[in-house]
Amino acid sequence: MKFLVTGAGGQLGSQWCRYLNDRGYAHSGLRSSELDISDASAVEEVLDRFKPDVVINCAAYTRVDDAEREVRQAFLVNETGVRNLAIYCQAKGVRMVHYSTDYVFPGTREDQVNHPSGYAEDAETAPVNMYGESKLAGEKALVEGNPGSLLIRVSWLCGGGGPNFVRKMLQLAMEREEVAVVEDQTGTPAYASDVVDKTMQLLELNESGTYHVSSSGSLSWADFAEEIFRLSGNHTRVRRVSSSEYKTVASRPYFSLLSKEKIRKLGIEPVQWRQGLLRLLNEIRDEVS
Ligand SMILES: NC(=O)c1ccc[n+]([C@@H]2O[C@H](COP(=O)([O-])OP(=O)(O)OC[C@H]3O[C@@H](n4cnc5c(N)ncnc54)[C@H](OP(=O)(O)O)[C@@H]3O)[C@@H](O)[C@H]2O)c1
Repeated sequence: MKFLVTGAGGQLGSQWCRYLNDRGYAHSGLRSSELDISDASAVEEVLDRFKPDVVINCAAYTRVDDAEREVRQAFLVNETGVRNLAIYCQAKGVRMVHYSTDYVFPGTREDQVNHPSGYAEDAETAPVNMYGESKLAGEKALVEGNPGSLLIRVSWLCGGGGPNFVRKMLQLAMEREEVAVVEDQTGTPAYASDVVDKTMQLLELNESGTYHVSSSGSLSWADFAEEIFRLSGNHTRVRRVSSSEYKTVASRPYFSLLSKEKIRKLGIEPVQWRQGLLRLLNEIRDEVS
């Protein structure tokens, strides 16, 4: 079984390549410079050359604030790019895995009350920003182009290569005594290594359709930051602020919790968020030592 990973230079793409490499799977990881998924002829030419059995699409436009003005670019990658891969995979009988986000949901405070264990896979979508709109358009393009594909929504992705919230907090802890972090946005992190593990389990079960993968529990970004500092032995304080005090260009959902009931029914148990964090902090420590 040969895997092809797109967006191999990103958080999840690099984690996938590490996983496949460590376990001896035949694979190719392609960075954006090697394959631009928004170019349909490049997709055809490159995939014809690599002849994968499974395409893992980790390529995405993920700059949430920039997406508000770079709308065309965000849709080009997150919708057109996904459509290109989906159509190719459908035509050639290649298995396709794609990732999406909690940002397809409205994440209102009312939903926090109405969905106490998080959004189910079939809950109503209504993004609050352009990034979410472009990812939702990508979901639709995927299902239309390749109905048998596996679509996995993750939230608060951390791990693999490149910047993420955990690394950012560890960096800030070296520079500051206090960090302002929002306390009114609730969700739960998805750890890249766990997302890869769970995706593999879903592939092995030959699952298709939409699944939510993230850790269990529920917390705010401020809770997360406090735990990162505590577990890493830093004495930096967290100043808990509201979203209205911490202005961003794009609106963010207040509520990002994804229900994991559907994977649980398959016997796949999500990692508890604190355990996942401990594991990630150890991985980061191993990288620098
Ligand atoms: N990060 C999160 O908190 C989060 C949360 C929920 C869902 N997700 C989803 O999870 C998936 C993985 O996210 P991530 O955090 O690993 O993203 P990431 O670190 O930003 O990586 C995305 C990768 O895609 C590449 N890329 C961009 N445009 C491309 C194009 N046209 N063709 C090919 N590659 C292209 C980027 O390359 P360049 O850097 O060279 O542009 C980058 O290496 C995405 O679908 C994302 O929407 C992420």
